[in-house]
Amino acid sequence: SSVAILPGQPTRVQQYVARLVKGPEGTLTNLPGSYLGPVMRLSKGQKVRIHFRNELSEPTIAHWHGMHVPALMDGHPMYAMDPGETFVYEFEVLNRASLNIYHPHPHEMTGRQVYHGLAGGILVNDEEEAALGLPAGEYEIPLVLQDRRFDADNQLVYVRHMHERMMGFHGDRILVNGRPDFAVEVASRAYRLRIMNGSNARIYKLGWDDGTPLTVIGTDGGLLEAPEVKPYVMLAPGERLDVWADFSGRGVGSQMVMRSLPFSGALPMMARRMMGEMMHSSLPLGSDYPLFTVRVTRRVSESPSLPRRLAKLSRYTLADTANPDKPLPLEISEGPMSMLLNRRPYAHDDLQPFERIPLGSIQLLEIFHGHGRSGEGMEHGGGPGMGMHGGMGMMGHRGMGMMGGHGGGMEGGMGMMMSMAHPIHLHGQSFQVVSRTVSGAVLEDYASVREGFVDSGWKDTVLTMPGERIRLIKPFQDFKGLFMYHCHNLEHEDMGMMREFSIE
Ligand code: C2O
Ligand code: CU
Ligand code: CU
Repeated sequence: SSVAILPGQPTRVQQYVARLVKGPEGTLTNLPGSYLGPVMRLSKGQKVRIHFRNELSEPTIAHWHGMHVPALMDGHPMYAMDPGETFVYEFEVLNRASLNIYHPHPHEMTGRQVYHGLAGGILVNDEEEAALGLPAGEYEIPLVLQDRRFDADNQLVYVRHMHERMMGFHGDRILVNGRPDFAVEVASRAYRLRIMNGSNARIYKLGWDDGTPLTVIGTDGGLLEAPEVKPYVMLAPGERLDVWADFSGRGVGSQMVMRSLPFSGALPMMARRMMGEMMHSSLPLGSDYPLFTVRVTRRVSESPSLPRRLAKLSRYTLADTANPDKPLPLEISEGPMSMLLNRRPYAHDDLQPFERIPLGSIQLLEIFHGHGRSGEGMEHGGGPGMGMHGGMGMMGHRGMGMMGGHGGGMEGGMGMMMSMAHPIHLHGQSFQVVSRTVSGAVLEDYASVREGFVDSGWKDTVLTMPGERIRLIKPFQDFKGLFMYHCHNLEHEDMGMMREFSIE
């Protein structure tokens, strides 16, 4: 089908429409003028049946990103359906209130299909959240951030050359809810902004243009315990952010612009050196550009106030885990021709011993950057990693230039030259980030993002910067079977930066 996105020719897109995805009655709302699928509204405890019919001319399957569903219902690539086939999903909504995503998951085709339009939001609500009386209805605004490239006839351009294989696809035009130059009119009161990064590869550093801090109330897996005020927030593909935005002090006619603020370090040093950051895009990753505008058009006298406590969260500790001394590895291997997880490209039924996880267990996992494909004989820079605060000072002392401290040698140098940011996503239940340590990163680069992580709540996707080592605790409960873990840079995922866990 076609949608008028830019003036002139309509753009051909692939769409999830109510005809393709049929949820329970009254649960679907279309975003006006958008190619995105309808927003699906579900309640915790609800039993859902969804008929998903493949009307494309190639295989596809839908995955419910963030939702805790049985393996058979999770949209594993092995269930990809041929054109004309229908998959009937049935599951009970076990998630707490949160914003989730539905998008395709066929191996090697996810990036292209999402790019051409296949994605939509799932808003789960529950009683705990409803009791807070947060802004709802017209005062709760879903905002899906995407970047696209158009040709002279307004058709979407998607390529996967060497450049995209390394860095992922980046467009030169920002779309919000499928619309360019997005602006929203608001009243002078508090709003709830439900932001999702639906881009294939682009990472945003969200901040208001006038320096107003962001009041974060939730992340991927729902509300935080208490609001957190941040100067800016990093949002990588697959991540969601729940923001309390209070316009009550603002006069009619005033406006605020949400921007992506400058940052560095997300691209491999090699790419920055050899090709320059400007290549292929007039909207370089990490540059400063507007995302959407909020205009105050009406005065109202009443506005809800921000609750000081949002939710009760229980924090896992190491003592809860089955493996406090031996984290399961999530090793990122980076090379000019391929990006891998745990040194192996995706292959179904290629389980390594550590990828078999006992049902009902709670596991400690550790994401870290290895040194290229072979990774032989190389220590990981900085050993166990330095504490984040002391660490930065240490790095200054050691005069970290562009390479990680240890290893020296060609291979170590190559590792750091290729190191880049990866949003790592795990299917199944949400997890908690327990620590981030940094070593071997470039000091100025890391300083440009370090205040932008919200790790106090539940997550299912975590942005891992060069030099970063992230520990997380994740429960593997309720359902046996195969669940994917992968980089949510969709070009990396399609190239094989994806593996599976078997819960048994
Ligand atoms: Cu959002 Cu396996 O994906
Ligand atoms: Cu997912
Ligand atoms: Cu990646």
